[in-house]
Amino acid sequence: MELNSSIAPVSETPQGLAAYRRLRAFARCVMDGITKGREAALSPSFEVDRELARIPEISLERILGDRWPEIKLTVGRYRPGMLHSEQAMAVLSILVAEGPKEVLEIGTYMGNTTRQMAENLPTAIIHTVDLPVDYAAEKDEGTGIPKDDFHLIKSRVVGREYLGRPEAARIRQHFGDTATWDFTNAGRPDFFFIDGSHTYEYCKNDSEKCYELCNGCGTFLWHDVDRGHPGVVRFVSEWRSLGRDLMRIEGMPIAYWKGAAVQ
Ligand SMILES: C[S@@+](CC[C@H](N)C(=O)[O-])C[C@H]1O[C@@H](n2cnc3c(N)ncnc32)[C@H](O)[C@@H]1O
Repeated sequence: MELNSSIAPVSETPQGLAAYRRLRAFARCVMDGITKGREAALSPSFEVDRELARIPEISLERILGDRWPEIKLTVGRYRPGMLHSEQAMAVLSILVAEGPKEVLEIGTYMGNTTRQMAENLPTAIIHTVDLPVDYAAEKDEGTGIPKDDFHLIKSRVVGREYLGRPEAARIRQHFGDTATWDFTNAGRPDFFFIDGSHTYEYCKNDSEKCYELCNGCGTFLWHDVDRGHPGVVRFVSEWRSLGRDLMRIEGMPIAYWKGAAVQ
């Protein structure tokens, strides 16, 4: 059968051409979307976000339950290395609700949180550890595990915020690299604020040594559980995958876990 050559193919009619162009534009959009999606899926921050999303959140109210801690909080302009005021509020509320007799903070920096912890626990001993004052990255003989935050290490005046204040009498400042420091120098704490080096290896080292110190019976808070600190996110996810009910505090880069018995 012969085709009638006077009938133009659909693609050559004005409607057909318009439909064809619309289809082509749509296909391009789909292909662009797929490419961008693939790029995003392969980007490290996408992976971290996915890992973060797998860690459930818990509200501060739920952590506190029926407890209504009264805290003293200093609110001021945020400076790098310290806690944002709303994060300090959460940390101090949990601290006061738990009422530990001994606390260990990993990473003193200027001592903002150290001081506030001491102010809020009027009889407790606050242990805090930071690298030796004369630590220099260039002279680091290496502990075999990678560090980070060299800008903070350089700019710190360890304990500046509590020095000379009455609470300083209950603060035990320790100096050492937590990879080699003897954690038993910190006594018998059962409340831990882990905020030293934020690499996966250090976060693991510090958390496991704190765990040993309290035999798994303690309250743990990790700072910087966010996209900017993939090593911390990876470690806390692992901690959770061990069956420990670690959660992120709603709206904050802080993870919370309370171990009640040896696990
Ligand atoms: C983010 S700052 C701590 C902030 C402090 N916790 C606060 O809330 O104000 C991290 C601190 O960890 C210290 N640090 C880093 N690596 C360390 C290590 N391997 N051992 C001990 N301290 C370390 C740094 O010198 C720095 O002062």
